[in-house]
Amino acid sequence: MDAEITKILVSKEEIAEMCSRLGKEITEDYRGKQVILICVLKGAFVFLADLIREIDLPCEVDFMSVSSYSGKHSTGVVKIIKDLDTNITGKHVLIVEDIVDSGLTLKHLRDLLDTRNPASIRICTAFDKPDRRKVEIFVDYIGMEIPDEFIVGYGLDLDQRYRNLPEVAVLNPELTNAEAGPEVEKDEVSELGGQE
Ligand code: IMP
Ligand code: MG
Repeated sequence: MDAEITKILVSKEEIAEMCSRLGKEITEDYRGKQVILICVLKGAFVFLADLIREIDLPCEVDFMSVSSYSGKHSTGVVKIIKDLDTNITGKHVLIVEDIVDSGLTLKHLRDLLDTRNPASIRICTAFDKPDRRKVEIFVDYIGMEIPDEFIVGYGLDLDQRYRNLPEVAVLNPELTNAEAGPEVEKDEVSELGGQE
């Protein structure tokens, strides 16, 4: 195991169960409708690929890349790196995220997409860190709540690394502090990586 990884927090089996459960719920809730899944790049691409195959509905997919702007601190003002190719007016939009932390990115993204007059907007996240929330945001579908620890794998990165881990792992804070200390990791990741 990589020296930076202290423990596996979510196994492949748990991830598969989570995707299957969410896919069933979404299929039930949108029955008779067509949905467009909006993958928030980069982190959510692995989750999107698993989730979409558990959804038994006619669905479209599109990708959006945003960076959560800051000075020193995240204000959550979203800068669009890559916008949607699709016009979402009148469509049922499901935003697919990797993890909700402060909630700032999603709140702004949701507000932005709302201005385009979709028929509905819901949010689905693989992971949720409710203890870190700074703004109130309703998340319709949550795969798993996790404690306030910096996680990698299953699409999630530290400085663009570890996205290819098939499980979700916790990094050793002592070894990763320089790049991603507990209070600054979000801003650091945004500024260094540009894209979430
Ligand atoms: P927020 O909800 O606006 O604070 O930001 C959420 C984004 O920060 C996610 O989409 C991730 O890209 C990133 N992020 C938050 N927590 C973690 C983590 O534990 N590991 C990796 N990326 C994270
Ligand atoms: Mg993200």
